[in-house]
Amino acid sequence: MQSTSPFKTGQHIALIGLMGCGKTTVGMDICKRRHLPLMDTDFVIEEKRGLSINEIFTQFGEPYFRQLETHLLQHIASNPAPAHVISTGGGIVVCEENRHLLRNLGFVVWLNVGLDDLFSRVSRCKTRPLLQTPDPYGTLGSLLEQRAPWYEETAHYILDASKMSARAIGESIYLEAKKFFHSV
Ligand code: S3P
Repeated sequence: MQSTSPFKTGQHIALIGLMGCGKTTVGMDICKRRHLPLMDTDFVIEEKRGLSINEIFTQFGEPYFRQLETHLLQHIASNPAPAHVISTGGGIVVCEENRHLLRNLGFVVWLNVGLDDLFSRVSRCKTRPLLQTPDPYGTLGSLLEQRAPWYEETAHYILDASKMSARAIGESIYLEAKKFFHSV
């Protein structure tokens, strides 16, 4: 079957933002309606290591997980593949090298969502090791404060995604990506 994607090899759309901002939901929505393949970096890492994110954090620690994220981004950068939507883990921007790698992978979008909305989406979820603290709201707030400048620095496009549906966000990203790749 001939590809109908307007994007060339290596012209990926990468979604960044804090846990609960909707990267996976929005990524799935764009991929379903626009027939693009989806890559979820957390999922790829879990598959490769044969462990859940929680298990990787518990057994090997966060720095090791960050290395796995860097290796994956390096692998994507050095193996040109058809354009994907790449949904990333919320902390992928913590490493300077990752921010640089992401910027060069294609069109990077920060799904910017306010703290209260983020918290209401993740508060009952036990799969996020960084939020297993006595004060998950405070932890999430600190992560947002610390990482916001990194998301901003890495993104080509910032979307205030608090009040929009996944479909509207996906559509906006797809149209902006077309403009972006047309201009490079
Ligand atoms: C993390 C976010 C998670 C996952 C891991 C660490 C973070 O991904 O990569 O638990 O540091 O913010 P999501 O943003 O998809 O929840």
